[in-house]
Amino acid sequence: MLDSLATWRDHTHKSLRQSMKALDALLNRSSSPKLSDPLPNEKILENIYRSALRAADHGVLRPWRFLLIKGAARDRLGELFLAAAICQDPQLPPEKQASLKQKPLRAPLILVIISNPVEDPKVPIFEQELSAAAATQNMLLAAYAQGVGAMWRTGSMAYDKTVMVGLGLTAAEKIIGFLYLGTTSGATKNLNDPPVSQFFKEWNA
Ligand SMILES: Cc1cc2nc3c(=O)[nH]c(=O)nc-3n(C[C@H](O)[C@H](O)[C@H](O)COP(=O)(O)O)c2cc1C
Repeated sequence: MLDSLATWRDHTHKSLRQSMKALDALLNRSSSPKLSDPLPNEKILENIYRSALRAADHGVLRPWRFLLIKGAARDRLGELFLAAAICQDPQLPPEKQASLKQKPLRAPLILVIISNPVEDPKVPIFEQELSAAAATQNMLLAAYAQGVGAMWRTGSMAYDKTVMVGLGLTAAEKIIGFLYLGTTSGATKNLNDPPVSQFFKEWNA
């Protein structure tokens, strides 16, 4: 009897600790624009990847795929960005060319989140794209919870045909974002969220 009471108490304490940790990530996560080496270890990355697969997903279609870009592949992504930008504007000034080429070097790892929708009679493509976005948010949270810096970026390159083709996307696929991951360098910002009442209103029909 006493044994089972102790087990119950330990279990309750453990669940409470876990929910406190989850709430910490949900209430305090913020993005890290400045990232540097080292790359998070494989165990940490595996948790981040698994969190994506736990996103809300209508019909459990898993309408996403992810590309991992690290090391020298980041230089090739920079070259792809540059090729895309020159295609759009052959007169692009040299300093803008240089800055674009450097963009993927802002973190040791970039995940390209791709929505990969399937034909489904019940689940519109929009919902499948939302699900890929939810997977991205889960990864931001899993990164924060493990002390890894992360930032979700898009910019014009995410919507550029040259980039999409260069990364091997099909016509139905979209880039939901580039998730930059690494070690946070630079100050973490002070959170200053508005009161929830600004966005949450009771509806009385
Ligand atoms: C779909 C999407 C695309 C984004 N693209 C960019 C981007 O290209 N550049 C940028 O500075 N922030 C971008 N952000 C915003 C940042 O990821 C971040 O959420 C924002 O700076 C607020 O900071 P916080 O996450 O710490 O609250 C994007 C966010 C989303 C959801």
